[in-house]
Amino acid sequence: MPALSDGTSLPDVGFGTYPLRGDEGTQAVLSALDLGYRLIDTAVNYQNEDAVGRALAQTDVPRDEIVVTTKIPGRDHGFDETLASFDRSAAALGLDVIDLYLIHWPNPSVDKYVDTFRAMVRLKEEGRVRSVGVSNFTPEFLTRVADATGVMPAVNQVEIHPFFPQTELRAFHAEHGIVTEAWSPLGKAAPVKESAPVAEAAQAHGVTPAQVILRWHLQLGAVPIPKSGNPGRQRENLDLAGFTLTDDEVAAITALGRPDGRLFDGDPNTHEEM
Ligand SMILES: NC(=O)c1ccc[n+]([C@@H]2O[C@H](COP(=O)([O-])OP(=O)(O)OC[C@H]3O[C@@H](n4cnc5c(N)ncnc54)[C@H](OP(=O)(O)O)[C@@H]3O)[C@@H](O)[C@H]2O)c1
Repeated sequence: MPALSDGTSLPDVGFGTYPLRGDEGTQAVLSALDLGYRLIDTAVNYQNEDAVGRALAQTDVPRDEIVVTTKIPGRDHGFDETLASFDRSAAALGLDVIDLYLIHWPNPSVDKYVDTFRAMVRLKEEGRVRSVGVSNFTPEFLTRVADATGVMPAVNQVEIHPFFPQTELRAFHAEHGIVTEAWSPLGKAAPVKESAPVAEAAQAHGVTPAQVILRWHLQLGAVPIPKSGNPGRQRENLDLAGFTLTDDEVAAITALGRPDGRLFDGDPNTHEEM
């Protein structure tokens, strides 16, 4: 249970919902909750807050056990725009309180992420948001929002998988009490899973390559949010407690990292999403 700087905590593993939508999305989230996931990751731009909301309304899992995350899109950056965007997200999700509210991408050329974060801090002060964080932020952007608002984001959700382990950014997070969430934690599966250190560790521990990669995230101190629409793979991705990777195995998987290891050109300094 990684502890957040604001006194709350996150489950060890979350459930990614992109691109699950509509009834398929609702069923996938219901299945994930049933299997034990307690951190659900959605975003305005996934166009599935309504599908997630229907699952939250239908599940037997008590609301206070679930950490619901959503993310503000670039087109809603700005102080007043963020307050209005929050109201739309809360309505779509059918919630009064959003547990973890993130800025999806910093969009530095637009330069409104500081005002956006200021509005999120207001929502937290009003009790409508439990924890405020960001996604795809560099140390420079994190420092700027903290200096401007006096609040360091509790979470930074970034691309991390064996081909892109983000060692320096994770060290910055550790130094500043920021919890790292890992998106595309499996590197969207195929090539990462077939890499020798992953396959060898899977064989050594009698688990699947996906379980090795997710266990690697836990041992790095990151919170992975794997997506699966398949209940069997959802279960597999949560079943990580029965083995521990050796330090050498962790190091060999981290050594798969390479400068061009991103899945797409998702450098937050240049990649912008509205
Ligand atoms: N903040 C951001 O900018 C950002 C960007 C991208 C993603 N995200 C979040 O991160 C979540 C996860 O990222 P992602 O979906 O891109 O990538 P991912 O979780 O690394 O990979 C998902 C892919 O792996 C497959 N898979 C899942 N579990 C598996 C297993 N045990 N064995 C084999 N294959 C497996 C899934 O297929 P099946 O469904 O068929 O199992 C799917 O094709 C997203 O859903 C989203 O919530 C955030």
